[in-house]
Amino acid sequence: MKIKIIYTSLTGNTQEAVEVLSDALTAKKIEVETFDSEDGIEVADFFTEADAYVLATFTDEDGVVPDGIIDFYDDIADFDLTEVPIAVLGTGDTSYVDFCRAVELLAEQCQASGAQITVPLLKIELAPEAEDVAAIEKFAEQLTQQVAAR
Ligand SMILES: Cc1cc2nc3c(=O)[nH]c(=O)nc-3n(C[C@H](O)[C@H](O)[C@H](O)COP(=O)(O)O)c2cc1C
Repeated sequence: MKIKIIYTSLTGNTQEAVEVLSDALTAKKIEVETFDSEDGIEVADFFTEADAYVLATFTDEDGVVPDGIIDFYDDIADFDLTEVPIAVLGTGDTSYVDFCRAVELLAEQCQASGAQITVPLLKIELAPEAEDVAAIEKFAEQLTQQVAAR
């Protein structure tokens, strides 16, 4: 099984969450390929050759999708993701009204293009702590079970 992850992270919290996820998947003998969306991978080059895909983002001011992944987000609208299994997670800060809104926006964009959101969205408060690590490991377990059952 192969899973591709794309993320954006400004201060490292989301990157940390992605590293925890990558480690959890690798421990299950799953091949993981991770991309920083700021490196500019095209949607068509990302959504290929894997069994499932993970998108990870923080949330920027007033609940918007961050600049680092906005082009990718926009391009999803014009890309056919019918039946493609996707999971979305991210970090945010509950002191903002729109906690982790960008996680929802990414998931909605994927769903609008036909994707299957395979596991519940995972929203993490700032840098992952022990309970978040456990939640990410559960996310990894659910995702791999869903993909294996397809
Ligand atoms: C200017 C600014 C605006 C933010 N707006 C939101 C927001 O609307 N909702 C939210 O959940 N978090 C918001 N955050 C918090 C970040 O999403 C949070 O710190 C996140 O963990 C940063 O991820 P990163 O370390 O991967 O860059 C904001 C942070 C900054 C600096």
